[in-house]
Amino acid sequence: MSHSPETPTLVVDDLRTSFTTARGELKAVDGVSFSIHSGRTLGVVGESGSGKSATARSIMNLLPPGSSQSTGRVLLDGRDVRNLPRAESRHIWGVEASMVFQNPMTSLNPVMQVGRQISEGLRYHRRLPREAAMRRARELLEQVGIAEPDQRLREYPHQLSGGMRQRVMIAIALACEPKLLIADEPTTALDVTVQKQILDLLDRLRRQHRMAMILITHDLSVVAGRTDDVIVMYAGRVVERAPTLQLFTAMRHPYTKALFESIPKVAHPSHTRLQIIQGRPPDLAYLPPGCAFAPRCTHAQPQCLGESPSLSGSDASEHRYACFYPAGTAEGESALAGNRAAGQTAAGLALVNGPATAGGGAV
Ligand SMILES: Nc1ncnc2c1ncn2[C@@H]1O[C@H](COP(=O)(O)OP(=O)(O)OP(=O)(O)O)[C@@H](O)[C@H]1O
Ligand SMILES: [Mg+2]
Repeated sequence: MSHSPETPTLVVDDLRTSFTTARGELKAVDGVSFSIHSGRTLGVVGESGSGKSATARSIMNLLPPGSSQSTGRVLLDGRDVRNLPRAESRHIWGVEASMVFQNPMTSLNPVMQVGRQISEGLRYHRRLPREAAMRRARELLEQVGIAEPDQRLREYPHQLSGGMRQRVMIAIALACEPKLLIADEPTTALDVTVQKQILDLLDRLRRQHRMAMILITHDLSVVAGRTDDVIVMYAGRVVERAPTLQLFTAMRHPYTKALFESIPKVAHPSHTRLQIIQGRPPDLAYLPPGCAFAPRCTHAQPQCLGESPSLSGSDASEHRYACFYPAGTAEGESALAGNRAAGQTAAGLALVNGPATAGGGAV
């Protein structure tokens, strides 16, 4: 997605991942492609269940072995890393490519001192002697902004605050200087001030280390100003992708627009009802034949219920969207106006601002 001529750090090509469940085959990732260059950040945005984590886990080789199938290419620095012999792949995952998860408490070892958790990877993968690994662990704690690192090295995760634990997770992820860092909702468990600190920290480290980064979030406001490109996911597919600035200048997919409108606006008085996206996300085991968003879409027309739009754009720009009636185009705006006049969408849902449907999809 960038014009740089060098080999992208990460190329993902036609990634498809499904899970075998009691209800049948569930397509969690359905033909996702993108690439990221060194030093750049891709934002991955979508509601809960849209396939963001499944995409990350597919890339990181972290899928449950028995109950998942995954196809498509993953290239790290131009090298196919999906079918490596085991001995080699050990030095890729968590080393050249690493991940920061939403909840650090489940990823940290509760009975191991912080210093040892950070230095273990260095001793194993970088073959550093114990003392050198510990010195490096101390440096890493300083880098991620932890005060009194000597004391912290000897502490256990439960002795740290939530924000500090997330910083430790980041230190572990950075220990072996990865080329790629995937941050999967790294701040959802934290309060707002700490969230911003952690996101800013990730941003600074990404620049310092020239890493390629994937920032996964359900909150479109998080990617603004922090990412170079954005992909918006719905039901396992990319429905819109663009350089971040372009996306915020002109959101084309009605789903992207709805996500944007569901962001709480600081300026609004507290009693203002948050706009939510009507209806619920689709059942991935029984996807509708047309556009997966059509049943909830304010622009949808009969065509959208029968036919699935592919990711395309109308010009030479890098902005792509999978929609027959995109926002800001003549067809899209007249479709919206027609639905508004009728008071409902093509699928018969009352238009937004009406009452939310039962269990309906707040973002
Ligand atoms: N191990 C699994 N086995 C079966 N189904 C799974 C598994 N992991 C994920 N899924 C399903 O795949 C779909 C996509 O899930 P995924 O975790 O990627 O969503 P997400 O976009 O990360 O959502 P969230 O914002 O809630 O983290 C969901 O329907 C989920 O239930
Ligand atoms: Mg997730």
